Amino acid sequence: MTFVPGVWNDIVLQEAPSLRDVGPFPAQDVFFGAPRSEAAFGGARGLAQGPAFKAEERQRIEELIKAQLVENAWEFSSSAASAIADVGLGDYHKVVDSQDHGKLLSKLGRVLSKQAVDEIKQMSFFDYARDAFGPYYLSDEEDLGHEQICFRVARPNKREDVGSLHRDVWFWDHFGFPVPDGVSRVKAWVPVCGESNEAGLLLAPGSHRQPGGFRTETINGKLTFSPEIDPQTVDLQRFRGSPGDPIMFNYGVLHVGSLTRGEISRVSFEITFMFRSEYA
Ligand SMILES: [Fe+2]
Repeated sequence: MTFVPGVWNDIVLQEAPSLRDVGPFPAQDVFFGAPRSEAAFGGARGLAQGPAFKAEERQRIEELIKAQLVENAWEFSSSAASAIADVGLGDYHKVVDSQDHGKLLSKLGRVLSKQAVDEIKQMSFFDYARDAFGPYYLSDEEDLGHEQICFRVARPNKREDVGSLHRDVWFWDHFGFPVPDGVSRVKAWVPVCGESNEAGLLLAPGSHRQPGGFRTETINGKLTFSPEIDPQTVDLQRFRGSPGDPIMFNYGVLHVGSLTRGEISRVSFEITFMFRSEYA
């Protein structure tokens, strides 16, 4: 019998307990006493919340993402561009139809400009990151020519706006993105707007230390990763940070976005810190 994924077994739709006791941690504690390395980040659970972006910083990031969406929309529709410009980002889904949504949020359309990245890197969280990781840069695995900040918009009740359970390391392995010798990676994911307390990222604490590779398949023309282990056996917990609260996680931690519920589009961004590994 062929296994057919359905609503009843879709982990993205399931309730998950809240992730607790993940910080915010002081910068010097994010490797839990071990030398800085990709494997040691976040200790046994592989997770560490960072200090929140200031209210005005979060607001500015929201403006920069909205400006990028408006600019993307100008490529194909001036009316879509002005409709997006006229609403708050949380109401994005009220003015954008599914066809335009796909065009607005292509992989490249979700990457902020170098200018926006340079501005965001001046914000307080990045001082903390320098203390935590030492000198670092943000990844550019697709080789766009500048450090990447990639954003995502998950509209209410749209299953197609969230992905499938994965470890970030799988993307690099699958596409053969090079990791320079002696360099470690850590992901940071930050909700920008959406319902407070429904940040929408599901993570499996400790899963970076559990075995389990991946398969790939193409669903509706889109490359999809799926774990070799049964997703139903993975202990997913929901990060309930407010907009502006960063959660950092080990590159091997299993995670997936959750379905946005309620009436507000959820917007988030993510970055990969690249830093020098220390050897004891
Ligand atoms: Fe991911």
